[in-house]
Amino acid sequence: MIDREALAFDMYGTLVDPLGIRRQLERDLPGDAPRVAEIWRQKQLEYTFRLTAMGRYEDFAAVTRKALVYALAVAGRDLDPARQDALLAGYNNLEPFADVRPGLQRLQAAGHAMVVFSNGTPAMLGALIDSAGLHPFFDDVVSVDEVRIYKPAPAVYRHVAARLARPPGAVRLISSNPFDIVGAAAAGLRTTWVDRAGGPFDTLGPRPALVVATLTALADALAAAGDAGGA
Ligand code: 2OP
Repeated sequence: MIDREALAFDMYGTLVDPLGIRRQLERDLPGDAPRVAEIWRQKQLEYTFRLTAMGRYEDFAAVTRKALVYALAVAGRDLDPARQDALLAGYNNLEPFADVRPGLQRLQAAGHAMVVFSNGTPAMLGALIDSAGLHPFFDDVVSVDEVRIYKPAPAVYRHVAARLARPPGAVRLISSNPFDIVGAAAAGLRTTWVDRAGGPFDTLGPRPALVVATLTALADALAAAGDAGGA
């Protein structure tokens, strides 16, 4: 069996849609859901960047809660703690994109070692993987919580390569988040951008050589590259 490259899958935005929380928000905040969902996601990531820049760490569950409180304040909406807890529980129960299960099935059949690699805490990722029924596809789950620093710090990409017992150049990051792709490439990993939104790539770093719209297209591309002797 050819020793295929190992694949590290980002979670939020790549395997599951964080904006899927919108339906739950619609029930709590009719009319404000899209705006609150967008601010919540942006603030959540902003807080991870700022914590890393400050040399501090709070786990992704704490950051996600604090970002929700901010998004509600911006919208001038007040939700009691029980409703906030229900929304945060919804964040651990996001739907996988339709292409994820068939794509993972094909990539696993092709012989790739596959892990989840995410800012999420082990508890958040375990809950998501359980509720989405994705456990059979992954050899392991790697959370940045293990090194207490967030993407795109180089240490997290070195960590996932070490956990896969491979040099960075033998690990491919699969992510829909350009900041994640640029960070992984800077740390020496191979990268594939899953362009789910059809928007422009980041201007901070080069667009990856391999860009796909779905995980099934990724399976096609890696199979073709493998047949050609190099991915
Ligand atoms: C993740 O680490 C980047 O939030 C995204 O799953």
